[in-house]
Amino acid sequence: MSSLQELLLSRIKDVPDYPEPGIVFKDITPLLADPAAFTALTDALADICLRQGATKVVGLEARGFILGAPVAVRAGVGFVPARKAGKLPGATLGQSYALEYGTAEIEIHADALTPHDRVLVIDDVLATGGTARASLELIGRTGAQVAGVAVLMELGFLRGRERLEPALAGAPLEALLAL
Ligand code: PRP
Ligand code: MG
Repeated sequence: MSSLQELLLSRIKDVPDYPEPGIVFKDITPLLADPAAFTALTDALADICLRQGATKVVGLEARGFILGAPVAVRAGVGFVPARKAGKLPGATLGQSYALEYGTAEIEIHADALTPHDRVLVIDDVLATGGTARASLELIGRTGAQVAGVAVLMELGFLRGRERLEPALAGAPLEALLAL
């Protein structure tokens, strides 16, 4: 494990039985509260953004906003929020996705991305991959290219990578921590 990975892992807190019994929640708030760790995380994700030649970061509400916005600033590219449905004021594109119980929907502004854009999707966790997959489908509908997906952590046992791969069409999924 690299020193960056050790630092990041040391600032993520396991919370057992949250939000329901049997689930271990990965709490990133200690990482966000530590400026050295948050800066190191931002720099690592910004490196991916630059390496993949992204022109936009799409952050997934809500924790993907916290991580993605400073990455966009650091990399010198624009930030586009993918919001939970009903929050954006303009014309939107929406994509629903399955939750454990029921469905959810995310939206982007219809004019937020163009076919000239290369988009890096940023979120904190890849779990089942449903949220990230919905974002890739939205991006595809704008005609923009997918530069990749970058997450702080990937929960391998939930097999999100397999679910995402068809929508990635060869673009990379980069996880700083594989848990
Ligand atoms: C969490 C997490 C990821 C997503 C991962 O978001 O932040 O966005 O779930 O799960 P998946 O890979 O199975 O889709 P959530 O919507 O629970 O809450 P948030 O608004 O706090 O980000
Ligand atoms: Mg989230």
